Amino acid sequence: MGGVLTITLLFCTLLLLLDPSLSHPLCTDSRAPFTLKTPLNFCPYNGSVCCNSTEDLQLRKQFQAMNISHQGCASLLKSILCARCDQFSAQLFRGDSISQPVPVLCNSTFPLNTSQSSSALNGFCSEVWDTCQNVSILNSPFATSLQGQSGVTAGSNFTKLIELWQSKTDFCNAFGGASINGSLCFDGGPVVLNNTGTPTPPNGLCLEKIGNGSYINMVAHPDGSNRAFFSDQPGKIWLATIPKEGAGGELELDEANPFLDLTDEVHFDAEFGMMGMAFHPNFVQNGRFFASFNCDKIKWPRCSGRCSCNSEANCDPSKLQPDNNASPCQYHSIIAEFTTNGTALQASLATVAKPSEVRRIFTMGLPFTSHHGGQILFGPDGYLYFMMGDGGGSGDPYNFAQNKKSVLGKIMRLDIDIISSAAEISNLSLWGNYSIPKDNPFTEDEGLLPEIWAMGLRNPWRCSFDSERPSYFMCADAGQDEYEEVDIITKDGNYGWRVYEGPNLYTPRESPGGNTSANSINAIFPVMGYYHDVNVNEGSASITGGYFYRSMTDPCMYGRYLFGDLYAHAIWAGTESPENSGNFTMSQIPFSCAHDSPIQCSSVPGSSLPALGYIFSFGEDNNKDIFLLTSSGVYRVVRPSRCNYTCSKENATATASPSPAPSSPSSQHEACPDTWSA
Ligand SMILES: *[C@@H]1O[C@H](CO)[C@@H](O)[C@H](O)[C@H]1NC(C)=O
Ligand SMILES: *[C@@H]1O[C@H](CO)[C@@H](O)[C@H](O)[C@H]1NC(C)=O
Ligand SMILES: *[C@@H]1O[C@H](CO)[C@@H](O)[C@H](O)[C@H]1NC(C)=O
Ligand SMILES: *[C@@H]1O[C@H](CO)[C@@H](O)[C@H](O)[C@H]1NC(C)=O
Ligand SMILES: *[C@@H]1O[C@H](CO)[C@@H](O)[C@H](O)[C@H]1NC(C)=O
Ligand SMILES: *[C@@H]1O[C@H](CO)[C@@H](O)[C@H](O)[C@H]1NC(C)=O
Ligand SMILES: *[C@@H]1O[C@H](CO)[C@@H](O)[C@H](O)[C@H]1NC(C)=O
Ligand SMILES: *[C@@H]1O[C@H](CO)[C@@H](O)[C@H](O)[C@H]1NC(C)=O
Ligand SMILES: *[C@@H]1O[C@H](CO)[C@@H](O)[C@H](O)[C@H]1NC(C)=O
Ligand SMILES: *[C@@H]1O[C@H](CO)[C@@H](O)[C@H](O)[C@H]1NC(C)=O
Ligand SMILES: *[C@@H]1O[C@H](CO)[C@@H](O)[C@H](O)[C@H]1NC(C)=O
Ligand SMILES: *[C@@H]1O[C@H](CO)[C@@H](O)[C@H](O)[C@H]1NC(C)=O
Repeated sequence: MGGVLTITLLFCTLLLLLDPSLSHPLCTDSRAPFTLKTPLNFCPYNGSVCCNSTEDLQLRKQFQAMNISHQGCASLLKSILCARCDQFSAQLFRGDSISQPVPVLCNSTFPLNTSQSSSALNGFCSEVWDTCQNVSILNSPFATSLQGQSGVTAGSNFTKLIELWQSKTDFCNAFGGASINGSLCFDGGPVVLNNTGTPTPPNGLCLEKIGNGSYINMVAHPDGSNRAFFSDQPGKIWLATIPKEGAGGELELDEANPFLDLTDEVHFDAEFGMMGMAFHPNFVQNGRFFASFNCDKIKWPRCSGRCSCNSEANCDPSKLQPDNNASPCQYHSIIAEFTTNGTALQASLATVAKPSEVRRIFTMGLPFTSHHGGQILFGPDGYLYFMMGDGGGSGDPYNFAQNKKSVLGKIMRLDIDIISSAAEISNLSLWGNYSIPKDNPFTEDEGLLPEIWAMGLRNPWRCSFDSERPSYFMCADAGQDEYEEVDIITKDGNYGWRVYEGPNLYTPRESPGGNTSANSINAIFPVMGYYHDVNVNEGSASITGGYFYRSMTDPCMYGRYLFGDLYAHAIWAGTESPENSGNFTMSQIPFSCAHDSPIQCSSVPGSSLPALGYIFSFGEDNNKDIFLLTSSGVYRVVRPSRCNYTCSKENATATASPSPAPSSPSSQHEACPDTWSA
């Protein structure tokens, strides 16, 4: 019983970790495919692949060990083994390479011909059965999948399919599948997605202004209600109620009564402040939440930690010359934990938090005064992702982003449910009180610090998980001199900085920290991006990452990745075509303000364009509606018709009024009288 439970839990964890359905190219170990420098010798895959030469050699040995005399069957089995090298192998093997030694074999390539006998399936699975049923296969991968089941003993590994399955139907029940629900099946060769044609960009994005405040973070209340937390850069968090779309209401936010005020602890300056906040997935039960902010050790004694410029990171703090007359590591990035316990009967009723820090999660001294990201985000796997920039200085002079012994220029992945003991912390020399998820990439790449999930970033400014496809972890990374980029973040991915800036090689002006050669890394290039000379304003550009739009409020925007630029006052929609291919086309989309906007938008002088100001961030509420947080206020993406944009799908879906499911009906009822459905 206990075993079954453990296996079930493990299975769920795996599913959560890398649900392969509907995903871009991804390998079974949840890493991104890579491009080989020399072609594989055995497996007929080239271009973007999931096998290196070592794995290719292993597959050849495994194939030879099967000792298949029948040529036709041998070639089918070879193709099945080699499916491991396909760039979509995570989908073909359904992500779980331990219990799935063979990919899902396509049931049928075309609809079953009903006049044929019911067992006469067309398709690759059928072909395998027809060709191989009587052929002896030593160490058959099909038998491996049955090991431990009744009637199959470890000795019977020299097998024919017919000895293990009674019929083709039996066999294809076990191994067959179809390319449905976004999952792929193996058809005998490399996956080729159907081309869905060039996507048409939406006509425009209609915005309404619902608030005048300037915020840089928005997080939906974990209780599923129509409320969200907003925070500003100086260090306050507010709890606000979001009005129903189209009802004419404004954001209900009591400026004078913040949920939490950390302005005394936060160091606020151009790139300093409260950069992120995150609410525990079980916040409603445990009241735990986290703030990520900067502090100044001269002003606050608790602002004191190890310096990120240290000998392990190949950096000598005495030689460091920070800008702004600051001393090295005077400023820190910290994550602190807070609670609502003691302020309300239950967390969803809390309108204020306790001002005292419950626990310090992370503390690190910063080398310079810029590029320290600071966003924190719980992933669909329940772990806390922490976005950290390269620490500043033009062109990452110390090459921190490529240094595996530095957490600068990285995305970290931390377990804040299990807090390590002091011994573990000092042994792994962690930066604070958390533990390391068992499958962080350092287990396979010993050079990496255990916190690191992905590397080679300059200043990740706003990341999000697609709420419908957990493997789409999107991050915008602000560029240096010429290119702003959007990346799909994968386990152990290296996003190139500062070997590359976007798709181009980058040469730093000074490099006391040394260089990394381009051919020593497998850089993953952006899926979207733009050059600074396009759409820039005042000669500046800085990308602001957004969200995959998953609301039905604007059905023409559904499924597109929305993002913008801080200075350029521009908004783009990224459309993936074919779907789930990782191939994106971006288009700048016009936007305007709804004529019935609750708060009148001011216009750019001499035009009808709404004057948004700087686009700091995007936000997503529990209704999956998307918000823009700008220096001029809070805007929501609304129905296109409110701006006179035409979207033919708009009224067809209008009847399906969305209502986010409350996580706990009783607390929902008391805490949130203003729910969407109400
Ligand atoms: C892969 O090989 C095939 C056949 O040799 C060739 O037609 C194709 O262009 C190659 N693709 C890439 C991406 O190298
Ligand atoms: C191939 O990949 C495996 C597993 O990721 C790794 O252990 C091995 O070092 C790699 N081999 C080469 C030649 O890169
Ligand atoms: C492989 O097959 C050949 C003939 O089909 C047979 O003679 C040989 O013994 C087999 N090798 C092994 C290791 O089973
Ligand atoms: C169905 O299969 C039969 C026998 O193979 C064939 O004669 C017939 O044309 C097929 N029908 C279709 C619609 O493919
Ligand atoms: C497999 O063996 C069965 C029974 O001996 C025979 O009827 C069938 O034709 C054989 N199939 C192939 C593809 O050799
Ligand atoms: C295959 O059979 C041989 C001989 O019976 C045995 O030694 C070996 O462990 C078996 N291999 C597997 C994978 O079961
Ligand atoms: C594949 O075909 C088998 C046999 O008809 C069937 O039982 C199974 O449900 C099919 N699988 C899918 C995913 O269609
Ligand atoms: C491509 O389109 C065909 C026909 O519509 C469909 O049967 C097949 O499953 C599609 N393939 C993929 C990978 O979606
Ligand atoms: C990527 O999308 C563009 C634009 O829709 C299309 O022309 C191109 O063929 C796509 N590339 C691939 C590899 O599908
Ligand atoms: C808050 O209360 C919850 C539920 O009783 C408990 O699990 C949690 O540990 C408490 N947190 C703190 C910081 O005391
Ligand atoms: C949309 O059309 C209506 C009616 O024609 C007009 O009153 C309104 O000003 C238009 N709004 C915008 C934003 O163009
Ligand atoms: C949808 O309904 C709205 C309000 O009833 C209307 O203004 C708009 O023109 C309609 N849009 C379409 C595409 O029919």
